[in-house]
Order: sequence, then structure tokens, then C-alpha cells
Amino acid sequence: MYKFVINGGKRLSGNVVISGAKNASLALMPATLLAPGTFRIDNTPDLRDVSTMSQLMETLGARVSLNGKLQTIDTRGVNNFEAPYELVKKMRASIYVLGPLLARYGYAKVSMPGGCAWGPRPVNLHIEGMEKLGAEVTLDSGYIIARAKRLNGARINFDVSSVGATGNVMMAAVLAKGMTVIGNAALEPEIVALGEFLKRMGARIDGLGTSTVTIEGVDELHRSDFKNIPDRIEAGTFLVAGAMAGGKIKVADCEPSHISSLLSKLEEAGAKISTDKDSVTIEAPDKILPVDISTAPYPGFPTDMQAQWIALMSRSVGSSVITETIYFDRFKHVPELLRLGADVEVKENVAIVKGVRFLKAAKVMSTDLRASASLILAGLVAEGTTEVLRVYHMDRGYERIEEKLRGLGADIERVQSDEF
Ligand code: UD1
Repeated sequence: MYKFVINGGKRLSGNVVISGAKNASLALMPATLLAPGTFRIDNTPDLRDVSTMSQLMETLGARVSLNGKLQTIDTRGVNNFEAPYELVKKMRASIYVLGPLLARYGYAKVSMPGGCAWGPRPVNLHIEGMEKLGAEVTLDSGYIIARAKRLNGARINFDVSSVGATGNVMMAAVLAKGMTVIGNAALEPEIVALGEFLKRMGARIDGLGTSTVTIEGVDELHRSDFKNIPDRIEAGTFLVAGAMAGGKIKVADCEPSHISSLLSKLEEAGAKISTDKDSVTIEAPDKILPVDISTAPYPGFPTDMQAQWIALMSRSVGSSVITETIYFDRFKHVPELLRLGADVEVKENVAIVKGVRFLKAAKVMSTDLRASASLILAGLVAEGTTEVLRVYHMDRGYERIEEKLRGLGADIERVQSDEF
């Protein structure tokens, strides 16, 4: 076990380079199950979730390696169609193998993901999507078992905009017979990246990045290479670090258009922002102004930046209202932020944050990935030495976070720890 030890109060400045998008990688990797061959995916981040997906792909018979940022996946040996509980419980995105296995092999057995740290996260839309495409789906001993000789194109209208269900149905529909129309499709850049990759493999897809995605099924796909997009949540997290603890920092190798809702909120909070083709520079405000946010599907304010925004607002000069509309219970970071001296009250899916003049160091515990990020951000500005336990959550989605922060002047170390 490791913990982060942070001596707060260092001013951040300089450049930080953003890694490839975790959530795009987790969709691109299973997409390779749709064709035999050796795929190379550039700009792959070296993260715990990516290695969990690699393990899952290897369990299915693929060979996966990562050399620097270049990931190679050889799917010629795939001969097992079961995603076991042991891996799915580690990472819900494992459900992404359902669509491609079913489409290519006519059978998939995937463990039900169950709940997660911030409450129930159903997969009904994934299952309903497969059924609409003609699969017979049963639930048995905690597993989703899906069968179909060949999937048939269908009209699928999601009640809720879902990143995962859109991606899964897209991966199933590309090999289905006939046309599929997905209504209320997710617009997230990671889904657009997945669609672009599928097109490179020979899929026929229209409407990517809009709420109606049309897919004309083909008989087979072929291997292809792809360059992953930058991680917009990692970029956003460093920008919030800049707003809280800058100085002036440049967030390089990112895609500014993917974070426009965050950038305008940071400007409202008083930060000076300038963007280039692939970078954003932020200058911290003298005082952080209170800014309300409400999370929403892309291009709205991302739920994956809500915890970091609460950390930022806890240092603002007034009161702000943070409304979580995607995951109502996603506030596990709040009790830990209170230990650092923040003043936050949660009522149902709304957090009222009253800015405080100082945060004070404490020992705090990560509960999930983005919660960990908010604790580290708070630790960077807290007076004294903050210890953040359970850094394995952070390692799921941030590549070498402590090295990157040290590069900006932060005093943060990863230290072995017996504490759990
Ligand atoms: C993805 C992201 C996650 C992000 C989330 C929302 C990945 C690997 N993860 O998760 O980081 O926080 O998008 O931006 O890309 N829902 C249902 N039934 C379903 C599926 C979803 O009701 O079958 C609901 C969820 O409970 C939630 C909403 O739809 O309220 C959006 O969830 P979804 O977009 O599916 O999230 P994930 O794809 O799991």
C-alpha cells in the first residue's frame, strides 16, 4: 500500500503534459475484439484500469503489450468469451466486451458489475440494447449471458444518455445485419473516438458527436491503428490545480474544445485562461470567486470534475451550489474534505460549499478515483502535511500524478504505508 504525503502551500508553475484518455482506451481496447489481427493504439496511458482491461483481454485469448505509449493488441487467439467476476468487480468498464464478443462470436458471458463506491450504477441500457439488436439475454448466477446467431440492426432510443451503453451498442451494431439508429446517443469525445476507430476498421457510422448515430452493419471488419485522444479529465484536474495553487501553468497536449464548459467556469471563478490548438494556460486568480455548477452529459460540466470543483470552491470567497445530476450519491469526498477544514453541506444531490480562508492538513482517505483527485488538490493548498491514503484509486486514472505535480513545483511524495 502507498499513500501520498503532501506539504501544502507550494506555488505551482510550468508545463504539464497530458496523457491519453483513460475512458477512451477502455472502449478502444475491446473494440479490437471485432476483427482478427494486430492493432496498435498510440497515446495509451499506463494506468491501473488499462492494465485491468489488458488482463481481461488476455483472459479472452488476446495478447496485449504496452511499449511507452504504444499499445499492441493481437486478437487472433481470442477463444474465450467470458468476463469473470474477479475482473469486472475491479472495473465496471469491463462490460464493454459484451457488445463486441456478441457481435463477432454470437456469445458473451459477462459478470454483472454490481454497485460502485458512489451508489448503484445499473447496466439495464446495455442489456436492453443487445436485446433490441436481437440477442437472447439471460441473467444467471450473477452473469449476463447473451446469445445471437447474427445481430439485426434496430432503432434504439435511450431514456438516459449513457456513455457505456452507446459505446457497447455501437460495437455490437457494426457487425449486425442492416441499419441501427441510436437515439439520445452519448456525445462524449470518448464515444466519438471509439466511432472513429470503428470506421478505420471498416465500420459504416454516421452522426458521431450528435444525439443520433446511424450504423450500417457490415459482414466483417479489419485490423487498424489509431491514436487515442487526450484525457480531458486529467487536463481539467491540472487546470483546477493551477487555479488553486498557481502561478501560471500550461497544460499541454490536451484538446481545449473537449473542456470548454470547464474553461468557462474557471474564467467565471476569476482565472485567466488562454488556449492554443493543443494547450491551455491558466493563471490563478488573486481570489477565487464562487461559481455554481450542475453536472450534465457532454458538453455540459462533467460529473468526473465535480469533486475537484468542490475542492476549488472550498477556497472561494463566497458560497456556491454544486448539483450532481448524473450520480446522485457521488459525494464520498465531502466528509474527507471536511477533515481538511472545508465547509460543505450535502442535501440529497446538492452540495453547498462555503469558501474558507485556510484549509488545514490532515490524514484523509481516498474512496474513489475523482474523490482522490479532490483530496490531493486540497492537500496542495492546505497548511501543513496532508496524507492521502489508498492511492490505488488515483492510480486507476492518473498517470504518474506525483511526478507531474512535482514537475510543477508541488511537494508530494508516494510513500509506502501499512495504513488502510
Ligand atoms: C462513463 C465514464 C465515467 C463517467 C460517466 C458519466 C467510462 C469508462 N466511464 O461511465 O467516468 O463518470 O460515463 O460521464 O467511460 N445508466 C443507467 N443504465 C445503464 C447505464 C447508465 O441508468 O444501463 C445511468 C447511470 O446510472 C448514470 C447515467 O446513466 O446516471 C450515465 O451513466 P453512463 O454514461 O452510462 O456512465 P458510464 O458509461 O458507466
